[in-house]
Amino acid sequence: MDLQIYELIEKLHTTHSLEKNEYLALIEAINDETVEELARLATEVREKIYGRDVFVRGLVEISNRCKNNCLYCGIRRDNNNIHRYFLTPEQILSCVQQGYSLGFRTFVLQGGEDRYYTDELLSSLIDIIKKKHPDCAVTLSLGERGYESFKNLKEAGADRYLLRHETADPVHYSKLHPKEMSYESRMSSLYELRALGYQVGCGFMVGSPYQTPSELAADLKFIEKFKPDMCGIGPFIPHKDTEFRDRPAGDAVLTCYLLSIIRLMIPDILLPATTALATADRKGRERGLLSGANVLMPNLSPVAVRKDYALYDDKVCTGDESAACVECLKTRVASVGYKIVTERGDRKGFL
Ligand code: 5AD
Ligand code: FES
Repeated sequence: MDLQIYELIEKLHTTHSLEKNEYLALIEAINDETVEELARLATEVREKIYGRDVFVRGLVEISNRCKNNCLYCGIRRDNNNIHRYFLTPEQILSCVQQGYSLGFRTFVLQGGEDRYYTDELLSSLIDIIKKKHPDCAVTLSLGERGYESFKNLKEAGADRYLLRHETADPVHYSKLHPKEMSYESRMSSLYELRALGYQVGCGFMVGSPYQTPSELAADLKFIEKFKPDMCGIGPFIPHKDTEFRDRPAGDAVLTCYLLSIIRLMIPDILLPATTALATADRKGRERGLLSGANVLMPNLSPVAVRKDYALYDDKVCTGDESAACVECLKTRVASVGYKIVTERGDRKGFL
């Protein structure tokens, strides 16, 4: 390995910080040897903090109705080619109940920006879940709802919020989103969530259209500065009903390489091996775990609606019952020497 790259890896490992141009150099130095070395250090760091435990989050995709029109996303407002659905509170509670029996202690309510879910409705839902299962965490992933709403939902008992920043470069942001969406608003939402006391997750797609190593370096520098509790990254995968349909998918190896870098940057971060990674590479979840990830987010949504929550094409696990999915994951996790645990899985040191 190039001495300069070796020193950069060492610097990241010991100081958890690099200059933006150093992140760029590291990204550009991707090869079999650097991939392996970063993964080795990342899994070592992860095991020191979290052992061989893998945290699971039960994902409930509550609605695919969305008022936004992100250019890359299959459930964007202008896609008239999909069947829209939303889950009733009763359906959501039944997914949670089933998930609890399967050993989940964190539930992620994720959906498009759907006005059906008012603060009142969500608050009562969160309240019911938390009263019924005081040992569980509730994570929300419902887009940019605004400060008041974030505040109401926090007061109702929500613990965590996932809102990917998508890209830390404003020009790149404007190429991926319609004019009415803004980089500033996305970023200020993240800081608001943090100020309200949520455990906050940001994240981005690897290989999104117009992304170059320089945008990725900006993402890494932003993550270093923001210090999120969680970070969701997965390869971009084209969706047939979007203008990016002919763009190439993001690379699974690069995604894993970035997971390792993020693990070294923020040693106790909660880092999922995402469904998009599993879609781009059938061994993606296992490879993610072996690159420093420590979280999996299997789907608990009713099988009848899973196909409809298609942010991208060929998403995996859309036909499996939750119980079958959990069994499959247990086997996969065991195959790389890790084990799924039944606990909330907070960031070490957060509580
Ligand atoms: N490929 C991969 N990920 C996508 N997302 C949206 N569309 C795609 C796609 N085509 C991601 C975005 C969003 C999250 C919910 O899913 O990063 O924040
Ligand atoms: Fe924005 Fe789906 S329309 S992520």
